[in-house]
Amino acid sequence: MSLKALHAGLLFAAALVAGRVDSSVVFDFPEYPPPLTPPPNQTIADSVATLPTHQTGGDPALERALIHFDTGKFGPPVQLVHAYFNFWPTDTNTPPMFMNTSSPGFSIATDKFILVQSVIVDGKDRIWALDVGRPRVNGSTLPAVPGGPKLIGFHLNGTRFATITFPASVVFADSSLNDVRIDLRGDGFAYLPDSSPQRPGIVVVNLKTRQSWRHLDNHPSVTTQVDLVSFHNGVPTYIHPPISPFATTPFNRFAADGVALSADGDFFYYAPLSARRLFRIPTSFLKVQPSALDPNAILLANQAVQDLGDVGSHLNGLESDDQGFIYLTAPEHNAINRFNPKTGMIEPFVRSPFIQWPDTLAVTSLKSGGNFLYFTCNQ
Ligand SMILES: *[C@@H]1O[C@H](CO)[C@@H](O)[C@H](O)[C@H]1NC(C)=O
Ligand SMILES: *[C@@H]1O[C@H](CO)[C@@H](O)[C@H](O)[C@H]1NC(C)=O
Ligand SMILES: *[C@@H]1O[C@H](CO)[C@@H](O)[C@H](O)[C@H]1NC(C)=O
Ligand SMILES: *[C@@H]1O[C@H](CO)[C@@H](O)[C@H](O)[C@H]1NC(C)=O
Repeated sequence: MSLKALHAGLLFAAALVAGRVDSSVVFDFPEYPPPLTPPPNQTIADSVATLPTHQTGGDPALERALIHFDTGKFGPPVQLVHAYFNFWPTDTNTPPMFMNTSSPGFSIATDKFILVQSVIVDGKDRIWALDVGRPRVNGSTLPAVPGGPKLIGFHLNGTRFATITFPASVVFADSSLNDVRIDLRGDGFAYLPDSSPQRPGIVVVNLKTRQSWRHLDNHPSVTTQVDLVSFHNGVPTYIHPPISPFATTPFNRFAADGVALSADGDFFYYAPLSARRLFRIPTSFLKVQPSALDPNAILLANQAVQDLGDVGSHLNGLESDDQGFIYLTAPEHNAINRFNPKTGMIEPFVRSPFIQWPDTLAVTSLKSGGNFLYFTCNQ
């Protein structure tokens, strides 16, 4: 998700395991890093050098002085894998045919893709595409009708094996399904954050019965921090030009956005885009469909949310790996950090000036060898 027009989107990969390097020279903060973090030279964006001569004013002491400076980098090297020209990694369809003729101002029910916000691969190597179901026509995002927002499953050969739509009581006209995680254990469940600023929440689908329901509606953990002023490349960011009610607005528009499922399927991690906090909830609470049989399901889920604290940046995409780490995009630091559930700490992972607004993440082990974190940069 990006605030300004994008000319080229980038897909990067960062190796998950990088060679160790000797770090004894610049590393002079013995209380850091904490146990289990990667080698210091990879994690401290700090180096020392003398100033360029034109900045020393001819002072010989200053010419010899070693100055600490921020290199803007830590962690494994990043490789550019693919550059997108003219299209964003998330691309919105805009054809007027998606305007609803019987309900002007609304979108339509269709098996065509309207706005695919997320594409993921499940544990059986199948592809799931999440369609928000809300096209942009004439400059405005149309409200959805049931049958527009959908989750579609494909085999790798392109054959469709599932189309899951949502009743109006689960996905609203102003909902904005943002991402999806699939757990094939048991009946199989899909978890989808609704990042709509009006009515954020988490949508859950039982993949066997195709029934869906909501949890955590307007819970503080899925809502925006209304006074968040995010910094990008050191610059405070406001929405510009001011939108209705035509006042200068901090960056506070997007709720529950990034999500990840722990490797064991026990925890669902999530974070609002417009906040600097990470949350999780045991999936056992989300799997309970609120109903007359389970009238306390919503209360119990709300009470099961764990606030994992401040993560130092607002977040976009999240991802998990099989070691238990939760990777956290940090658009404010041109970085990706990771949460270590064993220590409860945020660890630095990779930072680079080329990582401009990291978003969708994928962890892979290539058949040809090597573990990689792939991620898009929305720039
Ligand atoms: C590690 O730090 C030393 C001393 O500053 C530096 O010479 C070296 O290039 C660094 N290595 C990496 C991989 O950044
Ligand atoms: C888009 O706006 C133009 C100009 O206002 C109007 O002529 C056209 O009918 C609109 N299209 C739709 C699909 O509403
Ligand atoms: C138009 O919207 C209405 C609900 O307002 C819906 O019932 C109908 O299916 C929509 N039309 C199409 C073609 O999707
Ligand atoms: C596509 O793959 C699925 C799963 O392997 C298989 O069941 C299906 O027959 C394949 N379809 C075609 C057209 O090859």
